[in-house]
Amino acid sequence: MNKPIGVLPPTFDRADGHAVFPQTDHDETARMNFLTGLNVHISRTLSPGVRTTYENRVKPTLEKASGGAPITSATDIRKAMLHDPYYQQWGALRRNTQEASQQASLDIALRQIDALSAAADALNHGCDTLSLDDGLRIPPYQAAVDNHLMPGSYYTEVQPGDVTAAATYEISLFPIGGASFGAKGDGGGRAMANFVQGRFPDLMPKRILDIGGGIGGNTLPLAAAYPDANVIVVDSAAPMLRYGHARAQSMGYGNVSFTQGLAETVNIKRGSIDLIISVMFWHETSTKTVSVALAHMHSLLAPDGVMLHLEQPNFDDNTPAFDRFMRDWDAYYNNEPFWPKLHTLDVFQAMEDAGFKKEKLFDAGTEADIEPGRFQPWSTIVTRHRHETKDLTDTGRKLSALGGYKGERWWLFGAIK
Ligand SMILES: C[S@@+](CC[C@H](N)C(=O)[O-])C[C@H]1O[C@@H](n2cnc3c(N)ncnc32)[C@H](O)[C@@H]1O
Repeated sequence: MNKPIGVLPPTFDRADGHAVFPQTDHDETARMNFLTGLNVHISRTLSPGVRTTYENRVKPTLEKASGGAPITSATDIRKAMLHDPYYQQWGALRRNTQEASQQASLDIALRQIDALSAAADALNHGCDTLSLDDGLRIPPYQAAVDNHLMPGSYYTEVQPGDVTAAATYEISLFPIGGASFGAKGDGGGRAMANFVQGRFPDLMPKRILDIGGGIGGNTLPLAAAYPDANVIVVDSAAPMLRYGHARAQSMGYGNVSFTQGLAETVNIKRGSIDLIISVMFWHETSTKTVSVALAHMHSLLAPDGVMLHLEQPNFDDNTPAFDRFMRDWDAYYNNEPFWPKLHTLDVFQAMEDAGFKKEKLFDAGTEADIEPGRFQPWSTIVTRHRHETKDLTDTGRKLSALGGYKGERWWLFGAIK
């Protein structure tokens, strides 16, 4: 059982700004702080109560109905829990907090839409490191929903040159993640850079590709780790790339280019990339896209090149039905329709099917690296997704035969070509 934390999460004014980061006034900052705290409270204090209500109120009824047989179906649990008042209250609060976090972030961005566009324009103008494709069609699986309830998703443009979708994305990560992504929102990318340097000390990538890299928040730690590399962020959404490019320029990164394209088709020379990464990308793509995009990545990688993805951990054979039910909540109430499929996908088989050799696959677990000393150490593990990983004291779990994941918050999987 999680213990009450007794201290508040880091405040929004401690997020690192840059030239295109939206300004917030007193009330907006207070709203972001409240929402960050509320998300942490839901995750840390209220979410464990869902398990308690299941064990004490719902499971006994289900077991009675099944004649004492163990409950193994997440669907049966969900159907029964829908009638439970604690679950209803918890779900409504979680959904409303997510909506409020997104809306508060969008309001902040829209209030300064012209200033944000102008700031991005000033930094992007004349640069050949930003390449947009007006003709790119957002794929139906991405256009079908506004992922994680972000109004307008990543690609909506309110006016020409708009970057508000991207600004909303960047600042909303703070409250919805309970400040657990770090001051620059790059805790995942920093952890990946640490991992690559530790695991592949001889890898000196000349070209790095981040697929679905968005605003490049998690790409820049790789660009910092390999300052001589040419780093390419590919994303389908123009606002993300405009904003991300300006952001990287303002932070002094000359070695990062931003290109509009799709994971499954982006036009890059085959065999020319030494390191391919993605961060929180696969759970927002269709299952069909996973296989096509993996095969495309295989073709883009140079011999001995490394592919590395950061995602939430998948289910394994030992994942209890209750945990499956909890972790698929976002599919029903947070506009993340592909989570259940990804949670049960055998990604190792998918990588093999894409052309990678079985003996060259690997996985591992990691915590976000929130820059030691910047935020309280616990803030990396206190998020709305906290209940979705094993308790950190229980390191017995093995996700796969490859056995690298032991209950950490983030799951890394990949392959060497
Ligand atoms: C959850 S965001 C993650 C962004 C970034 N990796 C990060 O860590 O902040 C997913 C990103 O994938 C992009 N995306 C979704 N489907 C895509 C596709 N088929 N090809 C390229 N980008 C895609 C979205 O536009 C969005 O920016």
